[in-house]
Amino acid sequence: IHLNKATFTISAPDIRRLPADSGIEVAFAGRSNAGKSSALNTLTNQKSLARTSKTPGRTQLINIFEIAENKRLVDLPGYGFAKVPMEMKKKWQKALGEYLEKRECLKGLVILMDIRHPLKDLDMDLIQWAADSDLPVLALLTKSDKLSQGKVSAQVLAVKKQLATLNADIKVQAFSSLKRTGAVQADAIICQWFQD
Ligand code: GTP
Ligand code: MG
Repeated sequence: IHLNKATFTISAPDIRRLPADSGIEVAFAGRSNAGKSSALNTLTNQKSLARTSKTPGRTQLINIFEIAENKRLVDLPGYGFAKVPMEMKKKWQKALGEYLEKRECLKGLVILMDIRHPLKDLDMDLIQWAADSDLPVLALLTKSDKLSQGKVSAQVLAVKKQLATLNADIKVQAFSSLKRTGAVQADAIICQWFQD
């Protein structure tokens, strides 16, 4: 499996519009602006596969990228961004919730959190849900280029320590799309999920 083989398949406003629920999907979730789309581009080595933006709330649809037959990466709408109209927020939050609850081919969840502000309430809700659902998690602490090496290590340790109490399959990795920090490690974990 090579993630750089990814090609865009479809943007769907809800799960009924997605490809058939078979094979394996690995989804990218996290707060708005956490760096989900940027991480997808970094890991697939494609500059503009997923749309990124300075404005939080860019990804409002479920975006599917096929990397091999019946193996897909999924860019999910971000959560936790206050500044969008309530109606709109409800719509994508519904799509996100439905995807997570109903998608049987979801085999691994990459949860992205800004390394400067990890483990917010909504992140913890999602991580707890994944733990309860026996879904493996890769927590990527994004934008690690914004902190010194020492602070990066301290944050990774603190997050690992807090998540260890859940006794679940959760890996923690510092990540930077800008510098490609953690890209090799993240790639290995995601490709392993696709093999299983
Ligand atoms: P939504 O689709 O709105 O939920 O956001 P997203 O999580 O997909 O975030 P996106 O990848 O669009 O990135 C948001 C902003 O953070 C953009 O301005 C990116 O350039 C910036 N960003 C993402 N990753 C990094 C990184 O590793 N380092 C730095 N310095 N900036 C980053
Ligand atoms: Mg996005």
